[in-house]
Amino acid sequence: MELPQLTIIGNVRGDILDLEDAPKNYSESDRVGILELVPEYEEGLEGITVGQLIVVLFWLHLADRTILKVHPRGDYSKPRRGVFSTRSPVRPNPIAISELKVLAIEGLRIKVSGLDVLDGTPIVDIKKKIGV
Ligand SMILES: C[S@@+](CC[C@H](N)C(=O)[O-])C[C@H]1O[C@@H](n2cnc3c(N)ncnc32)[C@H](O)[C@@H]1O
Repeated sequence: MELPQLTIIGNVRGDILDLEDAPKNYSESDRVGILELVPEYEEGLEGITVGQLIVVLFWLHLADRTILKVHPRGDYSKPRRGVFSTRSPVRPNPIAISELKVLAIEGLRIKVSGLDVLDGTPIVDIKKKIGV
């Protein structure tokens, strides 16, 4: 079944320029950067506040979409596992989920900490974190 096309709502601006330099996950990252939204989605930012945690979905545009088994965290000493049992960027639909702290908001730009994705990575969605 074909799904409707995703709409990219923005892009990441940051200093993570190489995959080797990217933290393995947001839970172990203090990297700061900007979520820069496309102007037509500005109204959707209303209600986001400084200090809150947001859940951000990214499209990992450079990920390999053909591989279904990986060594978890790229550790070759561990046996390969199905990608759906891991947080690997490699998967048929390379959607990543990160919980990021909002440091500042200026118009279309949300400054966040906890980034684990490359500069330029497309943003697919932003949601409130449940329970906070
Ligand atoms: C393991 S994923 C975790 C992403 C997300 N926090 C999750 O759990 O779904 C993070 C890794 O994805 C890779 N990565 C980051 N940005 C990428 C991009 N735009 N395209 C492909 N791979 C990317 C980097 O190797 C980074 O260490």
